[in-house]
Amino acid sequence: MILQTLRERFHSALSSLVEDPDQYLDLIRSSQDPKFGDYQANFAMVLGKKLGCAPREIAARIVEKLDGEDLFEKQEIAGPGFINLRLRSDWLADQIQKSLMMDQPGNVPVANPKTFILDYSSPNVAKPLHVGHIRSTMIGNALYRILRYRGHHAIGDNHLGDWGTQFGMIIYGFRNYLDEDHWKKEPIQELGRLYKLVRKLSDENPEIAQAVLNETSKLHHGDPENLKLWKEFLPVCLKDIERIYSRLGVSFDLTLGESFYHDKLAGIVDELIAKGIARETEGAIGIFLEGQETPMLIRKKDGAFLYATTDIATLRYRQETYHPDAILYLVDSRQSLHFEQLFQVARMIGLENMDLVHIKFGTILGEDGRPFKTRSGETVGLEFLLDEAESRALKIVCENDDAKKEGPQLLETERKETARKIGIGALIYADLSQNRESDYVFNYDRMLAMNGNTATYMQYAYARIRSIFTKGGIDSGELDELLRRACDEKISLIKLNEPEERNLALELLKFSDALDSVIRDYRPNQLTSYLYDLANRYSSFFEKCPVLRAEDDEIKRSRLLLCELTARTIGKGLDLLGIQTVDRM
Ligand code: ARG
Repeated sequence: MILQTLRERFHSALSSLVEDPDQYLDLIRSSQDPKFGDYQANFAMVLGKKLGCAPREIAARIVEKLDGEDLFEKQEIAGPGFINLRLRSDWLADQIQKSLMMDQPGNVPVANPKTFILDYSSPNVAKPLHVGHIRSTMIGNALYRILRYRGHHAIGDNHLGDWGTQFGMIIYGFRNYLDEDHWKKEPIQELGRLYKLVRKLSDENPEIAQAVLNETSKLHHGDPENLKLWKEFLPVCLKDIERIYSRLGVSFDLTLGESFYHDKLAGIVDELIAKGIARETEGAIGIFLEGQETPMLIRKKDGAFLYATTDIATLRYRQETYHPDAILYLVDSRQSLHFEQLFQVARMIGLENMDLVHIKFGTILGEDGRPFKTRSGETVGLEFLLDEAESRALKIVCENDDAKKEGPQLLETERKETARKIGIGALIYADLSQNRESDYVFNYDRMLAMNGNTATYMQYAYARIRSIFTKGGIDSGELDELLRRACDEKISLIKLNEPEERNLALELLKFSDALDSVIRDYRPNQLTSYLYDLANRYSSFFEKCPVLRAEDDEIKRSRLLLCELTARTIGKGLDLLGIQTVDRM
């Protein structure tokens, strides 16, 4: 919010110097060291060069033009031409009060909303979800929520792999190795077993590998028997992933899997051939791309279509149906080449009036630094991770509750519910707080730690603030009423006399700027870092500034309001990441 305001002011100031002020506005940044004020504007160097003028002189001209009486306490030109800005405390106080009046903390929606399609989660469904699926699912979910909160139009699409070779495998397995009883009792486990079995067999035996391909091909050519089996399997698979989505609190606007595009593929291939974009290569059809050694195959020798063919059809469909400004693909870094090629093809077929972005991410590792596996070397099921996180959280919740001075406070059901939110929250936050492109090591103790940059720490901070209100018998309805009256009568309720109060207020007003920096390069860890800074500022404030025992009622009220906005901001921030809060823990 602050940055947005500063940009507007500097935009006008700069427009008397240059034609296109927009491109310089990124040079306004919050200062690393309070010695240099709250914000710094560093465009004098760049503009000095452009305008052939001493940077300090440019800085002076900008400051002179800057309309900031109401905003700045100090605007200082330092060194070679930095403009150091210190905001007025009464302006900060005013903005805090305004933020408290909004039903969503600090959120003025963006001026130019865009349409985004987010392709996320998108698992291959014939097998259970594994640890890696948390990345696409939760990073996608967070971006989706943040884009919407800022006022963009976001469409979430779960592009299921519901049509690939994995179905050939389970069809083949179903025909040859079915355990009838198991299928009746635990259908998804039985399909999972068949999938693993047949995959192993086809690795060892080329005849079985061929038989699997034949089953897949029969399915794709509409063989009634295979289609019937597919229709029987699909709901079983979907029910299984739905259960996990609901535990993670994730849902989608669209679930258009690969099968949805099947009848469009032949047409796409013909069209690309006719346009001279695709051609025959060793019996198959491929697209030869600049700078790439191997072509992108879109039809195999045996007539089967490929992953790439479906993605081209999907792109076309999305463009025609939703006219998006951008499509974001949340997929593992290992598919980088595929997306590079896909985006090149998109340009060749004229789909260039939108941003296509591969939002890639690294791998989750075990303590040994290798991809996270079970002891027996299998991938770790996502459901198992969720169970384990919840049960470890339950232990922590019980220990904490038992250790309370006044004796245990939580009912059994409350303990469980709290542990659920803490356990799942820890998993999600641990993932989102990483730089998404890096690999990271999975560790329950670290993610559930009460201190440090974890969900548990944030949830605890939230609960502690809420407990002040309970302890002080403060009615939040009364505070709202007070705010409304103060607003009508133009009275300021916020006092920022102590440096810790001012620091907290300043941080609170950076919330929507933090969200914008998430959106800038699609990094949810910008929001986790922000929340962590906010919680730390709150902690310093709380240590230094008594709230319920403040020296007078006015100060007490002001501090309670700062607490209130902090709780709302942390709560909203976590919510945007897909994490729930608890009032007591
Ligand atoms: N189902 C694919 C996989 O598990 C991911 C799909 C990603 N989305 C896409 N449009 N290609 O590898």
